[in-house]
Amino acid sequence: MTDLGTKIGSVTLPNPVMTAAGTGGHGAELGAFFDLSELGAIVVKSLSASPWPGNPAPRLCPVPGGMLNAVGLQGPGIDGWADHDLPALARSRARVVVSIWGRTVGDYAAAARALARAAGRYPGTVVACEVNISCPNLEDRSRMFAHSAESAAAAVAAARDCELPLWAKLSPNTPDIVEIAGAVLSAGAEALTLVNTLLGLAIDESSRQVVLAAGGGGLSGPAIHSVALRAVFDCATAFPRAPIVGVGGISDGAGALRMLLAGASALQVGTATLADPRAPRAVLDGLRRLLEESGTSCVADVVGAARGRWHWRRADHS
Ligand SMILES: Cc1cc2nc3c(=O)[nH]c(=O)nc-3n(C[C@H](O)[C@H](O)[C@H](O)COP(=O)(O)O)c2cc1C
Repeated sequence: MTDLGTKIGSVTLPNPVMTAAGTGGHGAELGAFFDLSELGAIVVKSLSASPWPGNPAPRLCPVPGGMLNAVGLQGPGIDGWADHDLPALARSRARVVVSIWGRTVGDYAAAARALARAAGRYPGTVVACEVNISCPNLEDRSRMFAHSAESAAAAVAAARDCELPLWAKLSPNTPDIVEIAGAVLSAGAEALTLVNTLLGLAIDESSRQVVLAAGGGGLSGPAIHSVALRAVFDCATAFPRAPIVGVGGISDGAGALRMLLAGASALQVGTATLADPRAPRAVLDGLRRLLEESGTSCVADVVGAARGRWHWRRADHS
């Protein structure tokens, strides 16, 4: 029997499989398909301090290798979420990771304070705060927080007010992801979540128009799996002691195992859940089977294992 338990900094989870923010609803919606407490954790859709309407429709579109979304972080705000969604999550006994977002550094601090109040109502339910910094920073010409080491660090530092372990979720749309990872770790992030969606665009050739009302969107699904593996691999190599949560294009146990081998201690399932709401549970079953079949005694034995061979190859060719 493989011990599936894993540690993300100060957070201990019974297994490494979670949902990805924005792909499993705000609350206990997936509980209609499996017991939410069976996953390592449930990550809820990103919330801001105040309600936010998101983008106009159409907001989703299938593309080769995955999908594009421009949902635009629609949400009820943290207080609304705490009233309407958190009670059912607490009853499910799931471990909950709350994703927060903002458009200014002050927004992150406000969201963090609101989260501290909400989490305090159900002690033990919210185990961590994931800071989604793939948002335009209104104080920096709407450049994404996650594309600037300074802005990324400021958002994460502001989120410390939530008094929960912080996971910083980074964007793959930058050549500086390792530098930005270093900045958010120095600013107080206990772990890195890698990665958010890749910038993309869909065009319908028959109407000759851009498909999504917002224009561009975020690409997710199998098409970004290698991008996510690379981000995890590079950050794990640069920061071997930083816990990493890998996300991008995982739809089965093999994809989950690849993410662990790249250096992640846990992983999230996103787009696959939109196609089949049972996907996170199936990924967990598949990962367990692969680890047991290979006689792996614990998750830590495979975390980052792909890096050993790479170092050996480099040494051989240098
Ligand atoms: C419809 C949709 C909504 C999303 N909403 C959020 C969100 O609210 N916050 C966030 O950090 N990431 C959000 N994401 C990004 C996912 O959490 C994940 O990082 C990304 O989709 C890559 O994983 P995947 O290929 O398994 O989907 C969203 C993705 C999709 C497809």
